[in-house]
Amino acid sequence: MTTQTVILKINDRTALAEIEKIISTTGGYTVEAENGVPRDLLIFEITDKDTEKQFDFIKRVMSSGKAGHLFLVSGVTDPDILIRVLKIGPREFFQLPLNPDDVRKALLTFQTNRSSHSAGVDTKPLKEGTIIHVVGSKGGVGTTTVAVNLARSLLAPGKTIALVDMNLLFGDIPIFLNMESPLFDWAEIARNILRLDSTFLMGTLYKHPSGLYVLPSPAGVLESFDSGPDIITKLLNLMRTMFDHVIIDGGQDLGEMSRSIMKLADRVIIVTLLNLPCLINIKRLRDTFLTLGYPSDDRVSIVANRVNKRSANISVEDAERTTKKKIAWTIPNDFQNTMNAINMGKTLQEIAPGSEINRHISHMAAAFQRQRVNVHEEGKKKKGLFGVFSITQG
Ligand SMILES: Nc1ncnc2c1ncn2[C@@H]1O[C@H](COP(=O)(O)OP(=O)(O)OP(=O)(O)O)[C@@H](O)[C@H]1O
Ligand SMILES: [Mg+2]
Repeated sequence: MTTQTVILKINDRTALAEIEKIISTTGGYTVEAENGVPRDLLIFEITDKDTEKQFDFIKRVMSSGKAGHLFLVSGVTDPDILIRVLKIGPREFFQLPLNPDDVRKALLTFQTNRSSHSAGVDTKPLKEGTIIHVVGSKGGVGTTTVAVNLARSLLAPGKTIALVDMNLLFGDIPIFLNMESPLFDWAEIARNILRLDSTFLMGTLYKHPSGLYVLPSPAGVLESFDSGPDIITKLLNLMRTMFDHVIIDGGQDLGEMSRSIMKLADRVIIVTLLNLPCLINIKRLRDTFLTLGYPSDDRVSIVANRVNKRSANISVEDAERTTKKKIAWTIPNDFQNTMNAINMGKTLQEIAPGSEINRHISHMAAAFQRQRVNVHEEGKKKKGLFGVFSITQG
């Protein structure tokens, strides 16, 4: 995807801040200075002061090719000015106060059209990302905490990581990452499934300041989701080509959507607490996976969360005996830091990078990164990444 360059000439401070925010959270755009270098897009506000000068400026910039395309913004109501605005023929016109949804949609459409014109120019190789499906043995065991912080710990220079919330009702990721009114969620993908390509998706995902790309769950009940399994299959197959890792917060759902993810996931992580109800559920979950045709139990790893060596009544060893499976990683109990992280809307990497809990999660992330290196070292002899995965214990 090529990056589109934008010149912003907006006087209205609120509108300027809003547009800057939309641009920064819509992948594929950068704001540049107006210094004579040709840019892809000029976004200009027409005011009712010195209108003539403003129209001259636009004419000059557009006719000299210093900006390829024009979006206009205006709060004026004078019909004469508005008629002149129409005559200039901007690609988009936004009335103030802005509707951020309209601006973002216009940017996405602009980008989609541009990239289809330049198809074949962007020769960046496609990625072969891994899909990591994080599910909980029960509610409240820390599934979202693990998914969010694992995703954050996987971020590294040159790596792109996506985080998808599959808790289709009441997903928590926007709270965990302090995302303000995410504009696009699952419903947007569902509605636009026919035009789902990497450009559209990049614009739809929320770009968190940490660098994570996030697809939140819908804020309300989805209209109709009959084609959910098809959508998720298409979406994940596409995301695999765009990201090094796609982390899915799968909650406790075992419905049709979850089954489709299960078929595509390179790795399933079951987050559990070391107590009997959770451990019994692990057996049920693994049996269900096998009944659903999930190819191999080797791809399933158990992560014990909130492990407190001093007060534990079920030890890791006991848990392994009960579940007849190794606990791949343990995460220590740390109420303070996990709670602070949620309250501040930040990740553990941001608020407590040196904490034991963050070290454990980073350790787990490092194992996934090593596995990817193995994949590349061993070449692409086998189809499907799990052919070369060996589970690295934490
Ligand atoms: N390692 C930990 N130590 C202490 N508290 C933790 C730990 N992990 C998570 N918690 C706390 O447990 C609570 C639930 O965490 P989280 O929302 O991640 O769980 P969940 O399984 O996603 O829950 P839900 O079923 O509601 O989606 C939060 O208050 C969080 O701070
Ligand atoms: Mg959760």
